[in-house]
Amino acid sequence: MSDVQREVSLERVLDIADELNQLKDIDTILDRVLLESRRLSCARAGSIFLRENGLLRFRYVHNDDLYAQDSNNKHIYTNLEVPIDEKSIVGYVALTGETLTIEDAYRIPPEAPYHFNSSFDVKTGFHTRSLLTIPLKAAQNQVIGVLQIINSTDCAGTPVPFTHHDEMLATVFARHAAAAIERGLMTREMVLRMMQMAALRDPKETGAHVQRVGAYSAEIYHRWALSHGVSIDEIRKRKDLIRLAAMLHDVGKVGIADSILKKPAKLTEEEFAVMRCHTVFGADLFSHAGSELDAVCREIALHHHQRWDGRGYPCEAVDVDNLVPTCAGNPGLAGEDIPFVARITAIADVFDALCSSRSYKEAWSDDRVLAILRDERGKQFDPELIDVFFDLLDVILAIRDKFV
Ligand code: C2E
Ligand code: SIN
Ligand code: SIN
Ligand code: FE
Ligand code: FE
Repeated sequence: MSDVQREVSLERVLDIADELNQLKDIDTILDRVLLESRRLSCARAGSIFLRENGLLRFRYVHNDDLYAQDSNNKHIYTNLEVPIDEKSIVGYVALTGETLTIEDAYRIPPEAPYHFNSSFDVKTGFHTRSLLTIPLKAAQNQVIGVLQIINSTDCAGTPVPFTHHDEMLATVFARHAAAAIERGLMTREMVLRMMQMAALRDPKETGAHVQRVGAYSAEIYHRWALSHGVSIDEIRKRKDLIRLAAMLHDVGKVGIADSILKKPAKLTEEEFAVMRCHTVFGADLFSHAGSELDAVCREIALHHHQRWDGRGYPCEAVDVDNLVPTCAGNPGLAGEDIPFVARITAIADVFDALCSSRSYKEAWSDDRVLAILRDERGKQFDPELIDVFFDLLDVILAIRDKFV
């Protein structure tokens, strides 16, 4: 009966594979892979581990019983590593490359080499029952990670075991998922490499700073969009673009001379005028605006130092194509004339800059940082987005702990 109710066709799986191919950012791809793989068997939960430096690193989790579907989830930023060996279920699957179907995690035969790690259940009160654990195989059958789908149901919510049909579809799906994940990892690496070029010049602009600003911005957008009735499909698509584009907000710093970029002291007004050009240099890299991603990258690079009250830069009249460096004294854009994505990134960037040490300043205490953000609500920053930021503070702090 249950099999009839949740019959999913191979065609549907291939349609989803097509959609996966349109996503670029690794986190958005993982989210979609997990959602769709769980839908195949009405599973309550699932997680993804990716192979990294010879270990399995926990990368993504869904759990309908613990966290509301589609809302921001701080647990995806958890740091957890599992060795690739026979002792754990995910380790066993990565090691052997075999799919493993378990009817009851608490009734694994004692002779099995692997054991179920119940620490997550103990910590959260969740009860794991059925597990379908599938290797994510890329080209040449290389295992790049493990997909684990947890607690299959009959869609009326009653627990049922995973079937052979589930296993077959999930295996086909995992093939496509692995290809999409590999592509997403490559995009992320390219972005980080671009930033490493900037980091060669400015050692404080590290990969971690870039990942944090990307993640903060993506989560702020997600929460804002949820409360404005944006559809979850649209949220996924925009979140994907915003994360990548926010990671590139300061890429224009590659064009700033070392003597200014690395100055271990306060900049003079003249030096700061040059420094302000990093916005225009960055925007220029995306000036063809061929894709939606290019367009978002350009908006963020150009406008992430605008202020809600209009006292930011570059000024309204800036001539991007001729790289006019400064228009000191003239106001920038204000309020809702500032592109929405740039207003988000402005908060993420300043929060991160204040929490970090720089060549010209020490890191500030959390209290001091949060006091400034609160104080600048409606002055430097979009007041509504500051409210969203404070609403999300637990997620923001989980991100900061992850990318150190
Ligand atoms: P950044 O270090 O990534 O800082 C980003 C933004 O965070 C700054 O944009 C500013 O809005 C905020 N911020 C950073 N530190 C402080 C601070 O101590 N107090 C306050 N109230 N806000 C802070 P801004 O000012 O437009 O600067 C853009 C970039 O210019 C900075 O990026 C940094 O690379 C450079 N920069 C700014 N001031 C100095 C400086 O005094 N010395 C040096 N060497 N570089 C500076
Ligand atoms: C394991 O494979 O034992 C870890 C997976 C889980 O606890 O869900
Ligand atoms: C947008 O959805 O891009 C604009 C929203 C706003 O101006 O607050
Ligand atoms: Fe900047
Ligand atoms: Fe920055």
